[in-house]
Amino acid sequence: MTKISKVKSCDLKEIVSIESKRMKSILGEEFFSRIVDDPSYLFIKLEEDNIIGYALFSINGNESELYSIAVDSSFEGQGKGSELLEKGIEILKEKGIERIFLEVRESNIRANNLYTKNGFKYQRTRKGYYSNGEDAYCLCKEINDER
Ligand SMILES: CC(C)(COP(=O)(O)OP(=O)(O)OC[C@H]1O[C@@H](n2cnc3c(N)ncnc32)[C@H](O)[C@@H]1OP(=O)(O)O)[C@@H](O)C(=O)NCCC(=O)NCCS
Repeated sequence: MTKISKVKSCDLKEIVSIESKRMKSILGEEFFSRIVDDPSYLFIKLEEDNIIGYALFSINGNESELYSIAVDSSFEGQGKGSELLEKGIEILKEKGIERIFLEVRESNIRANNLYTKNGFKYQRTRKGYYSNGEDAYCLCKEINDER
């Protein structure tokens, strides 16, 4: 059965392994260990038998930023990314967060679709934002908007 809960220090090896395989920009173990118990972040994992995905949001006043989200490649396209994102949004809403920002590579069609489907709206493009020169789309979700 799928379960979503908060990430603990003992989960970090598995999270780092998913991050290193799935993300082009890496936050890394040292960063994760520093913020894992910090209340200004929401760090959640999705488990079946093992951890198969995670999402990390920062919290700043009534705003949040999605730092990272990834699902193990063998579980892709099965709704796991949506489950993580929806749960994260639900928890942030309970905490009084009003909007969530994120940046996504223009080439990352799957992630762009995931965000758009979950109510994120295009705000602007940051030209050459990534180290390979790729542009970033800046998206925002107003939490009280229904899609
Ligand atoms: C982005 C990611 C988290 C999505 O996780 P996922 O479990 O595959 O997502 P879901 O199955 O919930 O799919 C969400 C939506 O993505 C889109 N999608 C899924 N598979 C797709 C594909 N092959 N091509 C294009 N869009 C696709 C669909 O709109 C889908 O919604 P739908 O199935 O209701 O139509 C996952 O692909 C991943 O870990 N990617 C690598 C890391 C990454 O890029 N993270 C985001 C950085 S900004």
